[in-house]
Amino acid sequence: MKCKRVFLMSETIIKKANKLQGAISLPGDKSISHRAALLSLLCENPLTVTNYSDAADCQNTLNAVKSLGGQIHNEGDSLIISPPPDEGMKSPFEPINCGNSGTTMRLLAGLLSGASISATLIGDDSLSSRPMGRIAEPLRLMNAEIEISEDNTAPIRISPGTIIPIDYTLPVASAQVKSALILAGLASKTDVIIRERSLTRDHTERMISYLDGDLRIEDVKMNIVPDPVDPRKKKKVLSTDAYKRSIFLGKNSRISGGEINVPGDISTAAFFIAAALLVKDSHLIIKDIGVNNTRMGLVKILKQMGARINIKNRREISGEPIGDIEVFYSKLKPRKISGNIIPGLIDEIPILAVMAANIEGTTIIRDAEELRHKESDRIKAVCNNLAAMGVKVGEFPDGMAIEGTDELEGAEIDSFGDHRIAMAFAVAGITAHGQTVINNSDVVSISCPKFFTLLDGLRIK
Ligand code: S3P
Repeated sequence: MKCKRVFLMSETIIKKANKLQGAISLPGDKSISHRAALLSLLCENPLTVTNYSDAADCQNTLNAVKSLGGQIHNEGDSLIISPPPDEGMKSPFEPINCGNSGTTMRLLAGLLSGASISATLIGDDSLSSRPMGRIAEPLRLMNAEIEISEDNTAPIRISPGTIIPIDYTLPVASAQVKSALILAGLASKTDVIIRERSLTRDHTERMISYLDGDLRIEDVKMNIVPDPVDPRKKKKVLSTDAYKRSIFLGKNSRISGGEINVPGDISTAAFFIAAALLVKDSHLIIKDIGVNNTRMGLVKILKQMGARINIKNRREISGEPIGDIEVFYSKLKPRKISGNIIPGLIDEIPILAVMAANIEGTTIIRDAEELRHKESDRIKAVCNNLAAMGVKVGEFPDGMAIEGTDELEGAEIDSFGDHRIAMAFAVAGITAHGQTVINNSDVVSISCPKFFTLLDGLRIK
């Protein structure tokens, strides 16, 4: 794989692979890294973070932490982040640039509203077109002084306000919205109750509990009832259809500080899992990866599709489950992917679609309208690029139908400036006949700067 710059735009040329083999480790989880950096602003003592992600998004969060008075030192492969000294966080002179990172912007908006700090949050073109009403509205219910533009996008302007408690049922399955409200409560020492209809990633809750904060989770019990279609079978249903989980943050929650070891990123691992499943005779071990249940949607679906994936050496570090993922080349079968599993694999749908394009039969993905609000409109980006590779695809408002083919055709791929589209189609390229060119491929640095080198290193030449 070569990376050359053309008119200031990078492009990477991908050729078909014969076999992938090896054992790799991946950089720290992006979602967990963001949370460690942001929570350090509220800790009573320094936080030592090991294996902090090298993603550009997470560097933007570190810059934000510095501009608010957090102090960051490198020690070996750890970062020591000390909370702002003396009177605490300070309003930054300049707007905080969150770059491409929705997690930085949304979580910071909650934290700063709670901390009563004046600040303006800005982002790049992609982030500036993503919906921010979903955080502004519930934060205003908490009495936060928060302004966004008329079309509900960034910049976000926050002014000091007096935060009040909230009991809020999430209207969209979003861990960023949930976390923004929890951070507003934590920073202002105010009670927060969040109710979730579908479970979303729970790293904020785990990290606050791990750092001794007062946070409690109650899952609504499922009732076992006869299936209305086949009464001989039993079905699990919720005793209330309003929500599945409630999260209670106590108003006297204080977080200590200490050590956080960040597990490898399962969302980056997804591209390598897919590559090994698709390329004949491959065998891969991906070490020390976060295997938190709220992020395992892809692995669960792939196993139902016939994937040979084992999770070994399961253990817990810093309040998060972790393990080694072993993957063998597998013959996959298509299936319909929709409903409650979608939030647990939302970031993995582009690569799932690439896998679907490589397996016999039709795969249908629905209930994933959220994909239109990510770093790009991922439904459109996936459908356009798969069509360019000779795949029959149908686009729905909330998903797609993909008819698998024997062999993809190499093509010129538009990454739409979206890291996960670039990585998904690099994997498509290693299964395709001829050559695939990923345009604007440098965008992979948003989540995994070494992506192409890691992928290339697994090829048996
Ligand atoms: C994230 C939550 C998800 C996910 C994003 C990271 C997080 O976004 O897509 O990549 O770290 O909380 P939403 O909360 O918008 O679903």
